[in-house]
Amino acid sequence: MASVDVFLKGGVKVRQAVIWLTGLSGAGKTTLARALERGLCDAGCGVKVLDGDDLRAAVPGIGFDHDARHRHILNTAGLAADLEAQGMLVVVSLISPYRESRRQAREKCKNFLEVYVDTPLDECERRDPKGLYCRARSGEIGNFTGISDVYEAPENPEIRVPTIGLSENQSADLLLEQIRARLGL
Ligand code: ADX
Repeated sequence: MASVDVFLKGGVKVRQAVIWLTGLSGAGKTTLARALERGLCDAGCGVKVLDGDDLRAAVPGIGFDHDARHRHILNTAGLAADLEAQGMLVVVSLISPYRESRRQAREKCKNFLEVYVDTPLDECERRDPKGLYCRARSGEIGNFTGISDVYEAPENPEIRVPTIGLSENQSADLLLEQIRARLGL
């Protein structure tokens, strides 16, 4: 069920796609993105990860209001689309909370696979790896996804990965298996 473009470059099969991981803060997106990167590299693919935290560190001052996030999502999609056009697999790991922004991101890319990292809010809040939910609840951080800003879960993602009741490795294996099938690997 390969659903992405595969072409030959110098006798080597090249796959191009944007694998877009969306989910709440603390859902496990970065962990899964890095596991996917390893798995796809091992399979001989050219992979680039674009992670929300890294991008925000590289471009300081991106805000968290609706407009800033929308622009951030579309800028990231533009970058991902460029890399995809060069024949890469691009793994994006971004909360990307708004459906309409993700729809527009999809339009920019050739082969867009939306992956919903499905970890419910109460579990993300229980994990709270960066202590941000606590600060959001106290009002110290505003516009916090799931607390004081919306998260619009995908209605029809290509792939849904649950993380509750599974180990990190199990979730990663589940995702990698489905991605490999989509990529014809
Ligand atoms: S997005 O909403 O614009 O797609 P992005 O994935 O780049 O978000 O960055 C989210 C990361 O920023 C979170 O993992 C968290 O560490 C941090 N962060 C800081 N403030 C907020 C906030 N108000 N809402 C969500 N995440 C925040």
